[in-house]
Amino acid sequence: MKLVSAVIKPFKLDDVRAALSEIGVQGVTVTEVKGFGRQKGHTELYRGAEYVVDFLPKVKLEIAVADDLLEKVIDTVTKAANTGKIGDGKIFVTALEQVIRIRTGETGEEAI
Ligand SMILES: Nc1ncnc2c1ncn2[C@@H]1O[C@H](COP(=O)(O)OP(=O)(O)OP(=O)(O)O)[C@@H](O)[C@H]1O
Ligand SMILES: [Mg+2]
Repeated sequence: MKLVSAVIKPFKLDDVRAALSEIGVQGVTVTEVKGFGRQKGHTELYRGAEYVVDFLPKVKLEIAVADDLLEKVIDTVTKAANTGKIGDGKIFVTALEQVIRIRTGETGEEAI
């Protein structure tokens, strides 16, 4: 299993959520975050205005996936979150040791 953490532009959240539902993703955690990339937030536009602070508002999605769905999830997020402009975001993939569904006690891929 893998944990996919994707940092995206906030206005792309609905598109990404819909695209993930279409490929059968069962759950997502969303957090409002701030961050910067290579441009350090300086030259990026946010809601039409040039931001002069270092941190820009972003949304982080966390998606636990079975290994065989990983490439599809990466592809889906990449396409749905892409505007072709700087600050489109980044996807981080880490190994996921265990998942437990609290209600049933199921573990592993069955719990995803
Ligand atoms: N190396 C990193 N580590 C942790 N978070 C990062 C890293 N790079 C980017 N992020 C997060 O992703 C957000 C978007 O990054 P961004 O898309 O601007 O990356 P970039 O490397 O500057 O690419 P681009 O040139 O397309 O803008 C940042 O605001 C930050 O929250
Ligand atoms: Mg950037």
